[in-house]
Amino acid sequence: MFYGRITGWGKCVPEKVVTNFDLEKIVDTSNEWIVSRTGIRERHVAGDGETTASMSVAAARAAMAKAGVIPADLDLIIVATSSPDYLLPPVSSMIQDQLGARCGAFTLVAGCTGFVYGLATAQQFIATGAYKTVLIIGAEIITKFVDWTDRNTCVLFGDGAGAVVMQASEQPSGVLAFELGSDGEGAEHLKMNLGVANPPSHKVIDEGGHFIRMNGREVFKFATRVLARSAAEVIGRAGLSIDDVDLVIPHQANERIIEVAAKQLGISMDKMFVNIAKYGNTSAASIPIALCEAMEEGRCKEGDRIVMVGFGAGLTWASAVVQLGVADEHRLAMWRWVPTATMRRAQNRVKVAARTIGLKAGAVVMPLYTRVTKRG
Ligand code: ACO
Repeated sequence: MFYGRITGWGKCVPEKVVTNFDLEKIVDTSNEWIVSRTGIRERHVAGDGETTASMSVAAARAAMAKAGVIPADLDLIIVATSSPDYLLPPVSSMIQDQLGARCGAFTLVAGCTGFVYGLATAQQFIATGAYKTVLIIGAEIITKFVDWTDRNTCVLFGDGAGAVVMQASEQPSGVLAFELGSDGEGAEHLKMNLGVANPPSHKVIDEGGHFIRMNGREVFKFATRVLARSAAEVIGRAGLSIDDVDLVIPHQANERIIEVAAKQLGISMDKMFVNIAKYGNTSAASIPIALCEAMEEGRCKEGDRIVMVGFGAGLTWASAVVQLGVADEHRLAMWRWVPTATMRRAQNRVKVAARTIGLKAGAVVMPLYTRVTKRG
């Protein structure tokens, strides 16, 4: 049995910042209302040239540098997003290509919960010994689907990307327990009415089918129902109590939701990581961005047990207890020894070429194999 240790983390947010005061100029709202009802003060919004793939690649590179791995070391890339660059191709393949990796990649859609679904999925591949190094990304340019005339939603969302590298380890660490949940009965409360059931047309666009519509009160009730309950559930599954947990990193949708959850869990807000004031709700990116900031600010460190809890469209929720580990020092020292980015790129090309040769050799052997099995 292998454990999936988180050895690297990175984030990327767009340069452009939109403050509550900027929003006061475009919709009937106020900084006071937004801060008191949500905790949000500003959010980052993607500009020209910034895409879900480009932000993911930047976050992934930062995470890989921290872990001391090069793209050719990756065995799998999982990208959680509800705002891919295109419906096809999958943004995960674009990211794999832009990174210069040679491995499987897929996109996972579970609303704001996607990143925790991704962590739990990666852990399974590692626990079985199938893969050694998995990159998990949560990335969104969700503001492209925001109706900037709808004050119910436009004040809430922001863009960004966060990534972690998970590596096989024999030391108990990584995802110690998880819970994945879905309740499609609540689907209507958070929806973009565009897709196969309502294909794009002038009429659909005129009706705003491409915008996020949300029944905020219902999502709020749902979130306050599941957040603390799911966190308590995974803490129990890991055989721990809330006192054994060093930090809770909840999905950043509304500071009041987080305060309610803290009360329900019987913990002070010091044990909750909150950065919503700077980013708003970045959907599937919110938890990995928060994890990065928590690490940067020294709010959590190697060996700490953290609980990540997500909830969102679906309606979905997911929690995980994660014990933090750092990259193997020996490996990192070797990696740092390779001095320049150029040399790392060369190292990557050699490794990718080796993987490609492996695939091509397989393609040569395949006809022989089928001939033999046909004869048999
Ligand atoms: N500025 C000023 N007034 C506003 C604004 C605004 N931006 N938005 C709504 N209001 C008004 C409403 O119109 C309403 O006015 P009325 O009483 O005259 O009808 C009043 O404020 C109160 O509205 P509520 O909806 O009751 O406000 P509430 O306190 O519930 O806060 C909010 C609204 C912030 C949306 C809250 O319900 C919330 O955070 N819900 C959860 C959102 C969430 O978690 N989303 C997750 C998304 S996850 C994903 O997968 C994308």
